[in-house]
Amino acid sequence: MTASTTDGWSVRPEAVADVAGIRAVTVAAFDTADEADLVEALRADPAWIEGLSLVATTPDDRVVGHALLTRCWIGEEPALCLAPCSVLPEYQRTGVGSGVIEAALSAARRRGESFVVVLGHPTYYPRFGFRRASESGIRLSVEVPDEALMAMTLDATRSLPAGEVRYAEPFGI
Ligand SMILES: CC(C)(COP(=O)(O)OP(=O)(O)OC[C@H]1O[C@@H](n2cnc3c(N)ncnc32)[C@H](O)[C@@H]1OP(=O)(O)O)[C@@H](O)C(=O)NCCC(=O)NCCS
Repeated sequence: MTASTTDGWSVRPEAVADVAGIRAVTVAAFDTADEADLVEALRADPAWIEGLSLVATTPDDRVVGHALLTRCWIGEEPALCLAPCSVLPEYQRTGVGSGVIEAALSAARRRGESFVVVLGHPTYYPRFGFRRASESGIRLSVEVPDEALMAMTLDATRSLPAGEVRYAEPFGI
């Protein structure tokens, strides 16, 4: 699957050769190696789902953006966690993040996944359909700003379940 764009970058699932590029983009986006280490720990974890790590690449195949969905649970219901999302600073605010996140959500929908949670910027994620998770009775075991925990359903026939989010072990939550 390759989604071409007119802006010189395109989106596809990660390949083995992208591992170093994803690390570089993640370190550059977050200014620390923590999130890059998290991606690598998740790649070795049972929460990893093949095809749900998406990269945005330039025509010469340089990774400039990354979005990752891994298995989590809302109560007893399987769901996906969107994290981390990273775009090279010089490519930020040019649509790369939206492109790679939309592609990840579409890939998840095609696989029959129903629910996604994200902990992040409350002004950014609503554009993809995320809403404040607490409105659906979704909560975390740790204190976070209420508006930062968001969730969405990928399946219009299923409402978000209520319950506590259980993240994959590498998140340490
Ligand atoms: C957050 C991030 C993935 C967004 O990707 P992007 O390619 O810059 O975003 P897009 O070009 O698709 O969208 C641009 C929109 O995102 C908003 N945006 C970008 N970074 C933002 C931030 N840190 N907080 C809130 N909104 C942000 C812009 O204001 C812009 O909004 P507008 O469309 O209303 O003008 C990217 O900026 C990034 O890697 N940031 C550093 C790492 C990070 O914070 N990751 C997310 C953790 S929750």
